Amino acid sequence: MSAKLADPTTSTLLLKNFSQLTAEAEMKMAAIVAPDGRLRFSGADAIMAYAQQNKLRVHGHALVWHKHEPEAFLRLDGNKPAFTAMYDNYIRTVMGRYRGRIPSWDVVNEPVNGDGLGLRATMWGRNLGDLGYIERAFRIARETDPSAKLFINEYDLELKPEKRLAFMQMMEALLKKGTPIDGIGTQSHINIDMPKGAAKAAFKDLASFGLPIHVSELDISFGHRRFDWRSVRTKRALQAEQMTDFIQAFMALPEKLRHAITIWGLYDSDSFWRVNPEDPNPDDEPLLFDGAGRAKPVTAAFANALDGTKAALHVDAG
Ligand code: XIL
Repeated sequence: MSAKLADPTTSTLLLKNFSQLTAEAEMKMAAIVAPDGRLRFSGADAIMAYAQQNKLRVHGHALVWHKHEPEAFLRLDGNKPAFTAMYDNYIRTVMGRYRGRIPSWDVVNEPVNGDGLGLRATMWGRNLGDLGYIERAFRIARETDPSAKLFINEYDLELKPEKRLAFMQMMEALLKKGTPIDGIGTQSHINIDMPKGAAKAAFKDLASFGLPIHVSELDISFGHRRFDWRSVRTKRALQAEQMTDFIQAFMALPEKLRHAITIWGLYDSDSFWRVNPEDPNPDDEPLLFDGAGRAKPVTAAFANALDGTKAALHVDAG
């Protein structure tokens, strides 16, 4: 992402419309942990420098994630003391480097099983306990930067009510143990076919913890139907409706429970849905701007639902 920020057109579009930035890859283990275990920060530092120069708030993403199991950690798999030391050191070093400059972090990302049943089996859990690795990460994170708001981040909380239930059971168990969790991140990679009312139901449940909610990776995909004969025009209209419903549901939360809304990318052409190895769709248009940086029907829907007034965005729906 730091290369994209160097492009003046991208930078202008970003700064005109957004006030907070999440690194897409640079602050994850895959970017930071070298095969020999050393920690590298060139990408993360570049993002920080850009953000500070342009007065953008940075959301840290993500300290611990099942998708990244670096070689250096795998070598210590099963050696509990050494594994724990490397784990603690990672969190301390990464958060410590940006102490006081990154006000919120995703401490653990995607801890619930994809099918929504229980906790995910990970290398972290194998060595530190399935709940233990989560608890430990939050405790170390709190110690390292007491000023940072600590988030737990998950996907499909709107699309799969059974997964939301597993997430909430995990939250209860963690909070009971006194885990210092300050907020809930709901990734909100949703799609145009999400049933009406799903977002409202999800926010209602998630708000029951009384913690701020971060819509952390919002995008609205054209969906994953195998044979989808609907026109692009129809899909764009459904997407705008879905956006209106979603944002209205979020805005209906009390202000103190609304942390922020993050959109997972700027241009449709860069969306991870286009290349996502699990189900790539090169024609998807999940974001707020097309490849040329132009607004779309969903853009106006977003702006209107946010402030409840007609936005001054010019949208060409043709
Ligand atoms: C994705 C990025 O968008 C891709 O570019 C990268 O290859 C893989 O990760 N949930 C998350 C994000 O929390 O970090 C993921 O981002 C998308 C799903």
